[in-house]
Amino acid sequence: MTLFDAYERPLRDLRISVTDRCNFRCTYCMPREVFGPDYAFLEREEILTYEETARLARIFVAQGIEKIRITGGEPTVRRDLEVLIAQLAGIEGLKDLTLTTNGSLLRRQAAKLRAAGLTRITVSLDSLDNDIFMKMNDSRVPVATVLDGIAAAREAGLDPIKVNAVVERGVNDHTIVDLARHFKGTGVIVRFIEFMDVGNSNGWKLDRVLPAREIAARIDADLPIEPASANYRGEVAKRWRYKDGSGEIGIISSISQPFCGDCTRARLSPEGQLYTCLFSGRGHDVRALLRSGATDAELADFLRSVWRVRDDRYSELRTEETAGLQRVEMSHIGG
Ligand code: GTP
Ligand code: 5AD
Ligand code: SF4
Ligand code: SF4
Repeated sequence: MTLFDAYERPLRDLRISVTDRCNFRCTYCMPREVFGPDYAFLEREEILTYEETARLARIFVAQGIEKIRITGGEPTVRRDLEVLIAQLAGIEGLKDLTLTTNGSLLRRQAAKLRAAGLTRITVSLDSLDNDIFMKMNDSRVPVATVLDGIAAAREAGLDPIKVNAVVERGVNDHTIVDLARHFKGTGVIVRFIEFMDVGNSNGWKLDRVLPAREIAARIDADLPIEPASANYRGEVAKRWRYKDGSGEIGIISSISQPFCGDCTRARLSPEGQLYTCLFSGRGHDVRALLRSGATDAELADFLRSVWRVRDDRYSELRTEETAGLQRVEMSHIGG
């Protein structure tokens, strides 16, 4: 079964955010001035239980979802995450199950997650320069902890391991070549992400964006690369391979070369709101339906009705006008 939206885009991916909390305060995602001690995070009763999440996932997979990515906030701060992973890993028809994490708690959790059925992982790491990294994550976790988390993921057999780095001009852009060089030849795939105008609080400005073309040029100047073809239709990262055969990198160009045309992603927030775009102002309330005793068929119908009329393409439309609109926070639906 495949569902198509108003632009004939199939529904293939579900990104499930399991918590809106995080132990980091990345300046581009959860600036401390906004996400301080008084910030109203979700209460436990509001958040979907693992059973509720897994039930929805099962129904959604039957409607054509092939890939599930667990996000947050920081998913590894939610208790017993491996319990959810085990439930999702058992869903028939699911081809790919993965997780995006800041890596700070991976040393303790990598083996448990792998044993529960997680096969690969993506770890965020913006710079190898400790001062710059700690300034960006604003939470006293050093580079060494994240590198150790990545090592733990490797020892646990998670493969491939990808590293996500947000590139902010004037902040960490002068360290991207070092990051690429560090992982070159190790099998770890580094992906550089253009700083995006997600949420309402990260002080985004266009002049802070280092466009994909420039990221590629800077890497290429030191470590020659050439374009590689996409692994699948709608792949978010544009792939580049090292000319010497020592691996690949990716560049995610949401600002300079938007990829809405192939966007096959739906997002489920921790409290069970279904978002059809990373930049949506509001979600569709699946939890209300779920908790009012809806059957599997009713939940599937709801998903179909939401996806059928979906016409989001925010990144392609980005203008002065869209800039003022209210958007969901990145830490709420996990990028
Ligand atoms: P693979 O499954 O390994 O191909 O990874 P992915 O690129 O699908 O997922 P990942 O979470 O690593 O995406 C990297 C980053 O790209 C996210 O954190 C977001 O910042 C951005 N991104 C992912 N999907 C979208 C999208 O649909 N729209 C926009 N604008 N950005 C996205
Ligand atoms: N721009 C680009 N990427 C971002 N992420 C979080 N906020 C932003 C932003 N403003 C990325 C993180 C992580 C993923 C969850 O989203 O670096 O890799
Ligand atoms: Fe936390 Fe990830 Fe947001 Fe950083 S980018 S504050 S690690 S959710
Ligand atoms: Fe998809 Fe919205 Fe991102 Fe476009 S901006 S790629 S529609 S999530």
